[in-house]
Amino acid sequence: MSSHKGFGKVILFGEHFIVYGLPGIASAISDHTTATIEDSDRFEFIDNRPETPGYKQTKKEEIGRQLDALLRHFNILREGGSVRITLGGNLVCASGVGASAALATSIARAFNERLKLGLDDDEINKVAYMAEEAGSGKPSGIDNTCSVFGGFITFRKNLAGGPNKIEKLKVRPVEIVMGNTGISQETKLVVEDVKRRKEADEAWFEGIKKDYVDTYAKAVDAIKKSDWNAVGRLMDRNQELLRQIGVSCDELEKLIRIAKDNCAWGAKLTGTGRGGYMVALTPWKGLQEKVAAAMKAAGFEVLKTTIGG
Ligand code: MEV
Repeated sequence: MSSHKGFGKVILFGEHFIVYGLPGIASAISDHTTATIEDSDRFEFIDNRPETPGYKQTKKEEIGRQLDALLRHFNILREGGSVRITLGGNLVCASGVGASAALATSIARAFNERLKLGLDDDEINKVAYMAEEAGSGKPSGIDNTCSVFGGFITFRKNLAGGPNKIEKLKVRPVEIVMGNTGISQETKLVVEDVKRRKEADEAWFEGIKKDYVDTYAKAVDAIKKSDWNAVGRLMDRNQELLRQIGVSCDELEKLIRIAKDNCAWGAKLTGTGRGGYMVALTPWKGLQEKVAAAMKAAGFEVLKTTIGG
């Protein structure tokens, strides 16, 4: 029996912009999905991951496409096959937290060990990306990179098709709260919609990209100096750009308002947007508890975790 992990992730800067080759900043979170593979007399897939209500149903086809791609890659037959794949772990599946990348990574790692393939992390990352692509179109690859390698990274997609540019950032552990809108979203649809808006007004989108590049450069500098006050302000600025490209929504805005009213240093949506999770920067335990309690009191589920470390 083999059981392996894929981490969840949080994007701090750059979702949607990274699709167009701009750099982003993300971190793995400690919450993870596990995949266990055992012998069985038939093919079985048991998904015991905790979820935001409705997530697995909404994502049924996407999960099926990912699983098919992974089975094809590892030459496992559904018909007449003889493995049971069981997913578990403490990552609550929802949009925005890298759940599909964690699924792909954990299953790839589990097959790697079961079949004694000796794949290293770069090779696991390629398999996880392939499964992500099968599930949801043309992802940037930031989710699977966080899920496989863990840690805190800057990421730039190589639009020409070569290796993506990844830099590890050394950051002491910093507390965050992730607020869950409870809405499951399809990344592919939201990415396509942003593309339509961009193509309808290239000059407008170029202006926003320029603002984003400036925000990103200042954010990297602030993170390197551990200036979390500045990081928080820049997260707010990134959120304003995400509003302008149309990927926020009422529930995300409500959570962001609660975070800011309770003294979070910065707050923005994370990942796909139009639902899913938001992230609030709360760089000490007391503040993290206060912001999380306020979100819970308003009826939202929260995830308290740390980035860096
Ligand atoms: C999804 O976690 C982040 C997006 O930028 C899409 C991608 O990077 O593939 C919206």
